[in-house]
Amino acid sequence: MAEYALKLTGIEKTYGTTIKTKVLHGIDVSFKRHSFNAIIGQSGSGKSTLMNIMGTLDLPTSGVLEILGTKTTDMNKKQLAVLRNETIGFIFQHHYLLPEFTALENILMPAKIKHGRITQADRAYALELIEFVGLTQVKDNPANQMSGGQQQRTAIARALINKPEIILADEPTGALDSESTDKVYQLLRDINTTYQTTFLVITHDRKVAEKADRIIELKDGRIELDVVTKSS
Ligand SMILES: Nc1ncnc2c1ncn2[C@@H]1O[C@H](COP(=O)(O)OP(=O)(O)O)[C@@H](O)[C@H]1O
Ligand SMILES: [Mg+2]
Repeated sequence: MAEYALKLTGIEKTYGTTIKTKVLHGIDVSFKRHSFNAIIGQSGSGKSTLMNIMGTLDLPTSGVLEILGTKTTDMNKKQLAVLRNETIGFIFQHHYLLPEFTALENILMPAKIKHGRITQADRAYALELIEFVGLTQVKDNPANQMSGGQQQRTAIARALINKPEIILADEPTGALDSESTDKVYQLLRDINTTYQTTFLVITHDRKVAEKADRIIELKDGRIELDVVTKSS
């Protein structure tokens, strides 16, 4: 098995064709499997661009991305989608739940897409995750009738349903109050411990970043700071 969940070599990104904006300037960084990493930096420093590239949602202009030891450089869109679906779960600031569907149905949606139907094992695992994220009482409530914190926990369980090795989270608590923020982060850490999932979390919250094993700060598309707080 690969040592690194993600390995980036010389990743550059330029937006635009006539007016070019270089947003990432040669990023070299690797993330160990099972580690919990925070990415910080001012607005516009390139955090989301970097994360979208790591998740194969966007392509770098140059450089090499390896996911669990697999080079993605020569893969076509379909191959990338397969690799992404098998290895990466995403959590965004806005949860993108289907509002009319229940928490349980939302959580099962990626499994349904993956398997073409919902298996017994999917349902059992969804219920385990619901218990784990503390949604058992509200699992049959439509998403639009849950609190913001409950909706985000639903989105987290949904990100986990296909057992990804890697979770990429772009300001997952950006829309939550401080109490919900603390709970959601504790939950992400618990998932990291229990399921050994590798985490890359973009955050503005200092407190959150300080709980990570490693903090990377981006500035103007370059790594400005790389601090390992706990070796793993
Ligand atoms: N699709 C795009 N086209 C052109 N410029 C973009 C695009 N996406 C982001 N940018 C620019 O790239 C820079 C980095 O953006 P982003 O990665 O979203 O930063 P962050 O997430 O750190 O706030 C910003 O200057 C932003 O305006
Ligand atoms: Mg961003």
